[in-house]
Amino acid sequence: MSPIKWENSQYSEKHRRFLAKKPQDTKFFTLCDGAVRSGKTLSIIYKIPQIFHYIGNNYLKVFSGFSKNTVRNNVLIELIPYLENYHSAKCSYNSASGELDIKLWGKVYNCLVTGGGKADSDAKIQGGTWDFWYANELAKHNYAFYNMALSRLTPENARAYADCNPESTNHWLYKERIKPYLEGDENVRAIFDYWHFTMEDNANLSPVFIENQKRLYKGAFENRKIKGLWVAADGLVYDTFNTDKHTVSRDVILEKIRKNDFKDYFLGLDWGWNHPLCCGLYGLSGDGTYYKISEFYGQKKTCKDVADWILGQQKKYGKFFRFVNADNARPEQNYELEKRLGSIRVYSDKPQVLDSIEILRSVINYDRLIVNKDDCLQTLNEFQTYSYPEDGDSSDPDIPLKVNDDAMDETRYAITFYESRFLHKIKDYAKAAG
Ligand SMILES: Nc1ncnc2c1ncn2[C@@H]1O[C@H](COP(=O)(O)OP(=O)(O)OP(=O)(O)O)[C@@H](O)[C@H]1O
Ligand SMILES: [Mg+2]
Repeated sequence: MSPIKWENSQYSEKHRRFLAKKPQDTKFFTLCDGAVRSGKTLSIIYKIPQIFHYIGNNYLKVFSGFSKNTVRNNVLIELIPYLENYHSAKCSYNSASGELDIKLWGKVYNCLVTGGGKADSDAKIQGGTWDFWYANELAKHNYAFYNMALSRLTPENARAYADCNPESTNHWLYKERIKPYLEGDENVRAIFDYWHFTMEDNANLSPVFIENQKRLYKGAFENRKIKGLWVAADGLVYDTFNTDKHTVSRDVILEKIRKNDFKDYFLGLDWGWNHPLCCGLYGLSGDGTYYKISEFYGQKKTCKDVADWILGQQKKYGKFFRFVNADNARPEQNYELEKRLGSIRVYSDKPQVLDSIEILRSVINYDRLIVNKDDCLQTLNEFQTYSYPEDGDSSDPDIPLKVNDDAMDETRYAITFYESRFLHKIKDYAKAAG
């Protein structure tokens, strides 16, 4: 992806107002939140030369994100070409140390890029004075890092800017800043400025693009990602899974296998003993739709039971199975399984819960997961029950309840792994690309 051409940029009235605000007239801390793709990050990037010019170069400037890599992918990828091509700056970035030096309008600004998402992230930023902090995706930062960062910003003209997508109403950022701001709390308003953007505020997006984004985030996260609202996730995790639309009979599946409609076969596995184990077999059709062909589910199943079931399925359908992606909690079992399976690779790539739920949700929203309703009864049962805790019942309201989750975890391991590692290998996935 090449960097954007700023000479073609379009600005809505709200972005114009945001951009027109002089750094000297802004509060100590400016937060931009709202919908995905609403232009928050790029509008902050656009203002950076002006902000740096105002603040000067006496102290360190910090760019943080969930990790150093997310800052690079979300921010530096546009910031550096923008500074170099439009402001004749010279930038040098050391990705190992995170040191970023920007020579702009005759001054050198020493910056540091750092990750703020881990529990111990604050330890890396102890000591030192900063006069500028840009937190990309602030809501994904660790709370201790956020507090440590604020305490570094002591010079009088220091400024903090942040962007984020809304999360739960239980989030510290909402409770400490946004809610009091919205309620008119004067202490908060004295130092904190809050801007809220929607996709319609980003004049650079086409209506088709906006429509596609809206489809990606139907249901539980529509309020946050599309409407940009801080709300608790509630109800079903996969609330757009529709048993009429997203299931077919065994006969339909068998017919597809017979007609070679599936271009690839693979499996997911969530180990269990007292807690049930679940293994699922999937086929991917030429148009990028996943079909869950069968499931193996139950308590006290051994590695041999799983291997026998998989080999039995392979014999029954006579197809090459590309891989099993299993839960990584049982390395010795995965090792034994791989030995028993012979040519089928066993991976143990356990995806991050929130990200992978989001991936699976978007697969469902695009009608790209179809379940065999005669042979995957547990999967169907869980799609209709797997849910978020009631508001206030849990320390992390975005993590679903660990009930009715065995087939759900297995489905997530299988599909998100295929999406990220193999889908691009299948040529005709026009539907997947929207
Ligand atoms: N000034 C601009 N000029 C040209 N294109 C822009 C501009 N601002 C935004 N865009 C377009 O809109 C897209 C989204 O902008 P941006 O990444 O700033 O949104 P965001 O609100 O930070 O989104 P997210 O919440 O997903 O991080 C950009 O990838 C770019 O294509
Ligand atoms: Mg952004």
